[in-house]
Amino acid sequence: SASALKRNIVAAARGQRMLNGRTLAPTVNHGSSAGLKVLAVLYKGGEAAKQEPRLLGSVENQLGIREWLEAQGHEYIVTDSKEGPDSVFQKELKDTDILITTPFHPGYLTRELIKTAPRLKLCVTAGVGSDHIDLDAAVEREIQVLEVTGSNVVSVAEHVMMSILLLVHNFVPAHEMIERGEWQVSDIARNAFDLEGKVIGTLGAGRIGRLVLERLKPFNPKELLYYDYAPLSAENAEKLGARRVEDLKEFVSQCDIITINAPLHEGTRGLVNADLLSHFKPGAWLVNTARGAICVAEDVAAALKTGQLNGYAGDVWNVQPAPRDHPWRHMKNHLGGGNGMVPHYSGTTLDAQARYAAGTKEILERYFEGKAQEPANVIVGLGKYETKSYGQR
Ligand code: NAI
Repeated sequence: SASALKRNIVAAARGQRMLNGRTLAPTVNHGSSAGLKVLAVLYKGGEAAKQEPRLLGSVENQLGIREWLEAQGHEYIVTDSKEGPDSVFQKELKDTDILITTPFHPGYLTRELIKTAPRLKLCVTAGVGSDHIDLDAAVEREIQVLEVTGSNVVSVAEHVMMSILLLVHNFVPAHEMIERGEWQVSDIARNAFDLEGKVIGTLGAGRIGRLVLERLKPFNPKELLYYDYAPLSAENAEKLGARRVEDLKEFVSQCDIITINAPLHEGTRGLVNADLLSHFKPGAWLVNTARGAICVAEDVAAALKTGQLNGYAGDVWNVQPAPRDHPWRHMKNHLGGGNGMVPHYSGTTLDAQARYAAGTKEILERYFEGKAQEPANVIVGLGKYETKSYGQR
C-alpha cells in the first residue's frame, strides 16, 4: 500500500529496514563475511556431554555449529578456559571477529580485554543476560551485542516457581532429614507455609517477571506486586492482576515473597544490600534467578542468620563458578534451613539449550548474510543501546 511504501522510504532514510511493517535493527555485518574467527566460551560438559548430545551449550557439543561454520570457511575455537592472561579466551580474543559467550560460564569481557581485541565486531550471548560484557565499552567500540531473547525465559520462570515453593514449604530440610534416616514432622512443619494468601512481588516485570506473575496467579496470593521503571501495559496489568509499587522500599516492605527478574547493570548492582534488606518484612523469602551481584552476598547471609530473611534461593552467583567457600553455599536460617541455592542452570535446561543454540546460529547466519537482526535480540547495536532493559539512560 502507499502508506507501507512511505514507511519503507522513511525507514530506509533512517538506515533501517522494514519487514511486514516492523522496523528491523540496522544490518550488522561490517565487511567481509568469509574466513572469520569465531571464539566460543562454553562450560565443560565432561562425561555428561559425551553421553547426552542435547547438552549443546557445552564445550564438547559446541552449540552444534562447528560443521556449519567450517563449511563456510570460518575458524571456530571453543573453550572453557576463561580466567587470566594465559586462558584460551584471553589469548584467542586478540584476533577474534565474533565472540560467543554464555551467562552460565561467563567469559567476562571487560573494557581492558576489549582493548586487546581490535577485530572484535560481534558478541553473541547464547542465552539471556549480557552483563558479563562491558556494554558501555562495547557501545564506544561499536561492537554489537546480541542475545537469544526469550530463549530460556519459560525455563527460568518455572525455576522461580519451584524455588518459591521449596522455600515456603520448607522442602530442602525435609528432604535432607529423610536422607539422614530421620522422621520428625514437627521440625519441618514449624516453618512450612502456603503460597495462598501471601503478598508476592517481582522486582523487574519483563519477559520472565511477567511469566512468573502469570504462573503465580492460580495460587491465589493475597496480592501480586511489581517494581519496574517500565510499567506493564494496561492489558498485561489487568490480565496478571499485578499492582505497581513505585518506591522500592515500600515495595519490599509489603512483600512476603520477592522474586528478582531484572538484568544486572549499574542501577541494580548491589541493590539488595543490608539497608534495603532492613526494609523487608521480617521473615520474607527472596528468590534471585536474575544475577547474583544484584544482591550483596554477605548481607543476604547475615539477614538469613538474623531471621530478617526466612529463606533465599536461586541459581546465580556474583562469581561463577562460585568459590568453595562462598557464603551462599552453606548459609542457613536459625532453624538450619532456608537455603535453596543451586549452580547456574535454570536457563540451560535441555529444552532451553535447543532454543538458544538455534537462536545463536540464526544470529550468525543473519550476520554472515548481511541481513537485519531480530530487533528484540539486539542489546547493543552499532554504537548505541537498543534495549531499555539495562538501566534508564
Ligand atoms: P527483559 O529485558 O524482558 O526484562 C527485564 C525487566 O527488568 C525490564 O522490564 C526492565 O525494565 C526491568 N528492570 C531493569 N532495571 C530495573 C531496575 N533497576 N528495577 C526494576 N526493574 C528493572 O529480560 P528477561 O528476559 O525478563 O530477563 C531478565 C534477566 O534474567 C536477564 O537479564 C538475566 O540477567 C536473567 N536471566 C537468568 C537466567 C538464568 O539462567 N538464571 C536465564 C535468563 C535470564
